[in-house]
Amino acid sequence: MAIMFSEDGRRDPYPLYHELRSQAPVFRDDFTGSWFVSTFADCRAVLRDPTYIKGDRPDVLTLADGSTRERPANRTESMLFLNPPDHTRIRGLVSRAFTPRRIENLRPAIERLTNELLDDLGSPGDEVDLIGRFAFQLPVRVIAAMIGVPDEDRDWFRPRTADLVRSLEPTSTGADFDAAATSYGEIHAYMVELVAAKRNKPGHDLLSVLIEAEEAGDRLSEAELISNTILMFTAGFETTTNLIGNGVVGLVHHPAQLAALIADPSLWPNAIEELLRWDGPVQLDARQANVDVVLGGQDIPAGSQIVTLLGAANRDPASVADPDALVVSRAEVPILSFASGIHFCLGAALARIEGQVALQRLFERFPHLRLGPGPPVHNQAITIRGMSALPVTL
Ligand code: HEM
Repeated sequence: MAIMFSEDGRRDPYPLYHELRSQAPVFRDDFTGSWFVSTFADCRAVLRDPTYIKGDRPDVLTLADGSTRERPANRTESMLFLNPPDHTRIRGLVSRAFTPRRIENLRPAIERLTNELLDDLGSPGDEVDLIGRFAFQLPVRVIAAMIGVPDEDRDWFRPRTADLVRSLEPTSTGADFDAAATSYGEIHAYMVELVAAKRNKPGHDLLSVLIEAEEAGDRLSEAELISNTILMFTAGFETTTNLIGNGVVGLVHHPAQLAALIADPSLWPNAIEELLRWDGPVQLDARQANVDVVLGGQDIPAGSQIVTLLGAANRDPASVADPDALVVSRAEVPILSFASGIHFCLGAALARIEGQVALQRLFERFPHLRLGPGPPVHNQAITIRGMSALPVTL
């Protein structure tokens, strides 16, 4: 797995995924002690089977550089890290704000915001950083408006949530962990104040709805309210930014596919599924075996960490023909980009609409957009795959 953690492996993990899938589809890595799973069928089975749970988080964590840190107490109420029944209760409450109708109702606002951002982006021929000026801006504005975070505070979050995301990497060090702990503390303090302000003066935003659920005795504690608001806020843009950024790069490198979309815009929803499959923002997910299991013919002891390589599963030739080709007209291809089972991404419908509106409107406005000057700046991450800057000429 050392190759996967190398610079080349991070930039292009797909050859390694194919090698793993064909030679050792359930593979124990000595460096991390984890089992890496790379076929679509095995990944899907792990994510859907209650035998595999969100792991107990040890009180003392050992990091990739060998250093140890105490587990932060205030991050454990996030539904992302919980198992039933707590997961079921919290997700049930929060998902009230994510019904398909509520999300589809956001489409006009997403269209409006996208057009505003494109108006400000520049004119054909201008050189801009598409991540900072567009791919990051749209999702952060949408989720900030949904939650009720004031506009002027959005940019304050960017470096801090980047610290949180870096600490999700399997290679994160003591220094990464410390930066994430400091940033989490600051974001937490911010959210405590925001909740207090919303209690005094409720609005129509998600946070006010959740506070109401809490006050109605609907079993959402203050700590859970804060943790899950931070989760939604962070998950709401760190990933979708990369769907847009990776999508732009994928389409510019495949001009015939882009031409097909411009000729037939009804293909856009399909194209988003294909981009999520072909180069998705979340490359891996993890569970813990609750009991001794046999997976792919391997005996795995209870307590082992199982890493599902979502990006590898999405390119499994057993579930999709010619998996390395980007083909926007593919239909009905199963993907694991949003995981599967009880932790299936709560924001999937929102991310799909944002990705679709952003990419469609961007290429309608700037059909000759090209990459450069200068190369994209890859974020060097394994878990959340994307770029920290993407120079383009409009
Ligand atoms: C393209 C964009 C996105 C991708 C690829 C993505 C991917 C994922 C994945 C793979 C998971 C499962 C994690 C696990 O099993 O441990 C997840 C969970 C989650 N996502 Fe997303 N996500 C995206 C956008 C969003 C957005 C816009 C939101 C908005 C709030 C969001 C909120 C969440 C939440 C709350 C969870 C936790 C669900 C649970 O644990 O039950 N995501 N996402």
